Parts: sequence; structure tokens; C-alpha cells
Amino acid sequence: MRSPECTAWHPASWQGRPAQQQPTYEDPAALAQVVAELSRLPPIVVSWEIEALRERLAAAQRGQAFLLQGGDCAETFADCESDSIAKKLKILLQMSLVLLHGLKKPIVRVGRMAGQYAKPRSAETESRDGVTLPSFRGDLVNRPEFTAAARRADPQLLLRGYERAALTLNFARALVDGGFADLHHPEYWDLGFVKHAPLKDAYQRIVQSIGDALDFFEGISGRRVHEASLVDFYASHEGLHLLYEQAQTRFIPRQDRWYNLSTHMPWIGMRTAKLDGAHVEFFRGISNPIGIKIGAAMDAAWLQGLIGTLNPQDQPGRLTLIHRFGVRDIESALPKMIDAVRQSGQTVLWVCDPMHGNTETSTAGLKTRRFENILKEVDLAFRIHAEHGSRLGGVHVELTGDDVTECTGGARGLTDADLQRAYRSTVDPRLNHEQALELAMLIAERSQSRRLVHL
Ligand code: PEP
Ligand code: CO
Repeated sequence: MRSPECTAWHPASWQGRPAQQQPTYEDPAALAQVVAELSRLPPIVVSWEIEALRERLAAAQRGQAFLLQGGDCAETFADCESDSIAKKLKILLQMSLVLLHGLKKPIVRVGRMAGQYAKPRSAETESRDGVTLPSFRGDLVNRPEFTAAARRADPQLLLRGYERAALTLNFARALVDGGFADLHHPEYWDLGFVKHAPLKDAYQRIVQSIGDALDFFEGISGRRVHEASLVDFYASHEGLHLLYEQAQTRFIPRQDRWYNLSTHMPWIGMRTAKLDGAHVEFFRGISNPIGIKIGAAMDAAWLQGLIGTLNPQDQPGRLTLIHRFGVRDIESALPKMIDAVRQSGQTVLWVCDPMHGNTETSTAGLKTRRFENILKEVDLAFRIHAEHGSRLGGVHVELTGDDVTECTGGARGLTDADLQRAYRSTVDPRLNHEQALELAMLIAERSQSRRLVHL
């Protein structure tokens, strides 16, 4: 294989490599016109924000911060509305306060938001009743209805996705900057589930002490916490649709580097991480901090190849490895990956995605995940990293601020039978806002005992 570093990089150099998971467009001229338009439109984020995030991720690598990355499996254009965005932001900010309290370090908040519109699929096509059509690849590409017209890849959707990403981030930024005041104070949180939880006393203690800490801070500073510019928020999505990502990639003369300005932190999905593939070629030339999803199929040589290609200078904050093995495989798979990174001599940020290795099918045929498995994988991840002289520096979760019933378990003990009630995801099952907050509380609660063990 040709060494990737030997060839000159430019935003379209990935086109010389095999590109997985890309839609086929019927009208190349219409596609080219859209890509040209996207290349002219202003960027969604700017390079200095990206650099600020990279520095915060570098702090997380040193153990001085913790990453909370979360949001929908796939955003939809229909959900680009104020209530849904505000609720998602709210749960992320609430979780971050709970984690700050438990882990005693600043939390870096990164939404799977403002651009998470393209999905990898296990099959190119889908067949129903003898009819075969292209798979639905997310709102950026085509439409979910099972008709030939809906499943046709439509280049105009790239523009609609860009616009909605910008609208979403604009609103999220305004909420964060403008206070969103009820967000910080637990007395305004919706904590009805707490009384159903076996650990309700512990949860109440966490909530009480967050309230006390905020009162104390606001008392001595004379300012509400959001006015102290302590809250920042970043966007991330899977960098899957390479023409879309390419169109928003710009050379920033002041930094003398290329940046993908469609988001702060794009990640490479598990299905597109081939060392000689188009995605790795594209990602190697952008200066953003990037994530790589790591599954059980990855071996040491592959991971070391990715690290060498994507971060040859060992730049702090550049690489976040998001492992998603599932409770069944994490104990056998993760130690090998930790060793592989150690042998590479490079620094990475380790993050656990306890969602994608724990998907199963409910008795009624719905895709679901058990809260207990999600929690257990996070627990195992903390333990395995500590036992191997490494450090878990963040979590990556699929969640929504809405009251859905897609994952089972949690304080309210949702069962398979409850899933029908409010199952809304067309892709992966998400934690609802109660389950998400409870996960943060359990991580916070258990970190107290972990700290005692490691004293
Ligand atoms: C996802 O994050 O929604 C996803 C598809 O993950 P992975 O690439 O890890 O399977
Ligand atoms: Co998903």
C-alpha cells in the first residue's frame, strides 16, 4: 500500500481513494452546482473556536477535564425546532453539572448536534415486498418514505442540511450565551424520576450540593453563573458525506492550515475508518480535533496506522478514540487497544460510547438498549483504563431531551412493553432525558468510590 503521507493533501484528495457509504446522485451537474454553492456560503464554525476546543480536549487528555459528547443518533430536519433543541441543550448542560460535581473537573460539552444528518448503513439497498430501493441515509441525503422518489439522493438536501445546522447552532449559542437561566439551578429541573430510584438519597444529595455550590458561587461573585462565561458548547457530527465536508473545508491563512468549518469536532465512524480509504485521507488534512470510533473489529496494527496517519506530530487534543465494544466485548477488546496506543507512544483522549455495542432487538422487534448495560459498560471502561495505567476521559451518548421510550431500564424501570408508548427514533434508540440525567448521576456517584479506591 502506498503510504498516505507521501501524497499531497487537498480538500478533494480523498476522491482518489475508495469512498464507503457515499450516496449515488443521478445528476452530477446538479450535485456539482450544490457543492459549489456550499463552498461559497459562510462557515458554520470558525477556526479559533475549533482551536479552543482542541485545547480543552488536550486538558482532558491530561486528566484535567472530562468530555461529555451527546445527542441524537441522527438529527432530523423536522426536529429543527426551538423546543427540541432547547431540551437537548438543557439535558446536556444538566448532565455536565452533575458530572462536574462528581468528577471534580471541568466538563467539555460537545453536542452530536447541528449537522448530524448523515447515517452509515449496513446495506446499500432495502427490499420490501419484492421492491428494492436505495437505503435511507439520513436527511442530508434522501427521505425515509419507501418510494423511489423519496429514496433518490437529492443534492438540494445538502443545502437544507447546511442551513438547519446553522440554525441549530445559532439558537444553541444564543441560549448558552443568553443565560438559559433555569438550567443551572436544580430547583428548576424535572426530577420526578428521582423518587423512583433505588439511589434516591444519593441523587438528592447530588442535586442539593449542586444547588448549594451554585448559590455559593453566585453569592460571592455577585453574578449568575452563565454571566461568568463559564459555559461553552461545541458541535460535532460524523464526517460521513465527504462532498459536504469538503465544501465547508477552508484554508485559514492566519492559522496557515485547513479546517473543516462545518463543525468543531467531526468523527470517523466505525464503518469508514479504513486506513487507505477516502475518509481517513480527508481527515488527515483538516486541523480540527477529530474522533475515531473504535469497534471490536479493529486490531492493534490498524489503530496504530490510524494514529500515525491522522496525528503524525502527536498534537495534543487532536485525537479522541471513542470505543464502542459493548458490555460483552469491552473486557477482552479494550486492553489490547490501550496497549496498542501505548506502543505508538502517542497521546489520545479515551472516550467510552456505551451505546453502539449494546443494541439489541426487543420482543416486539424494536431496536433497543438496556440502561443497565450502558451503565455497566461505562463502569467497566473506567475500571479497565485505571487497571491498565490509562484514563477514561469522557463519554459519548445518544440521548434526547424528550420523553421517549426507546431504551429500557432506568429509575422508572421501563420494560420491553413500554417501548411502544413513545418510540420515535428512526435509527438508534436514545436515552430519554430522565435516563440521561440518571446516567450522569450514577457516574458522579460511583466516581466518589473510585476516587477512594485510587487514593
Ligand atoms: C453512530 O454514532 O451513530 C454510529 C453509527 O456509530 P458507529 O460508527 O460507532 O457504529
Ligand atoms: Co447511532
